Amino acid sequence: MEAAMKDHKVYITRMIPERALRLLQGHYSVEVNNEDRPLRREELLDKVRGRHGVMTMLNDMVNDELMDAAGSQCRIFANYAVGVNNIDIPSASQRGIFISNTPDVLTDATADMAWALLLATARRIAEGDRIIRSGGFIGWSPLFMLGVEVTGKTLGIVGAGRIGQAVARRASGFDMKILYTANRPKTDFEKTTGASFIGLDSLLELSDFVSLHVPLTPVTHHLISKHEFGIMKETAILINTSRGPVIDEKALAEALRTGQIRGAGLDVYEREPEVEKGLLDLDKAVLCPHLGSATLETRERMGLMAAENILAALRGEMPPQCLNPEAAKKGG
Ligand code: DGY
Repeated sequence: MEAAMKDHKVYITRMIPERALRLLQGHYSVEVNNEDRPLRREELLDKVRGRHGVMTMLNDMVNDELMDAAGSQCRIFANYAVGVNNIDIPSASQRGIFISNTPDVLTDATADMAWALLLATARRIAEGDRIIRSGGFIGWSPLFMLGVEVTGKTLGIVGAGRIGQAVARRASGFDMKILYTANRPKTDFEKTTGASFIGLDSLLELSDFVSLHVPLTPVTHHLISKHEFGIMKETAILINTSRGPVIDEKALAEALRTGQIRGAGLDVYEREPEVEKGLLDLDKAVLCPHLGSATLETRERMGLMAAENILAALRGEMPPQCLNPEAAKKGG
């Protein structure tokens, strides 16, 4: 049995935390891209060939082309991310290939990041740091670098899934009123946080801080665009730790430039790693390089979870975080 498993070949498209790598190496022949850069498409297509399991990153496009390249022996693409907008899941299901992700383990880290951006934008932290470093701090003054208060304000959560709810729970220390959108009202969430279910336009009209937590789908692409900036408060701050294309970045740069909203704290971008030029010279935008889940603890948990999903699939079992159980019916 062990010998047969060793014959299974696994590919990991980026370096991952050591413990997760060792877990897989104990069972399979594992190759990892240990250059610290994303593979070019031709390299990726070549590397997945003949693998039984592949651990992919959020910037690896898992489509028919990649699944064809991997071959019919491939049982699983285990995404090292909770978001799976990079994967054609229906096609994987047709082929009997399992797709898994890494939910829950990154909820707190990502919610913390949304709050870090919210506070940094409200209180102009990144701008203040730049001023100090450029020698612009000449002493305390009553009108120097005033930000806005967070306590007592209204927080709008767009998409009250696991991460959205965790962001809302963190607001309890700030006496905030919470509004949220979701596919349906969530009574337990409302009971614990006092949040109110509301439509998107009303949430945008009423919120001082708007934090985005929807998955990227054709429906949420450019969910926040010109019309939405037009109805937000002029004092509003927009936070995005979900996926870049949920915001129309050009429209955002324009809304910030013309004072339609006060600020934005972004961790994700429409054409990552590229950032809309219009945002780069605006102090009103606090920009982070997709660090939502980037803590030592969380990245290790994500790696272990993705590895466990590969282990299960290659044992012929349903991966614990499987997103397409229907693939089992097609699998050989
Ligand atoms: C995810 O898991 O989808 C995150 O964006 C990774 O940080």
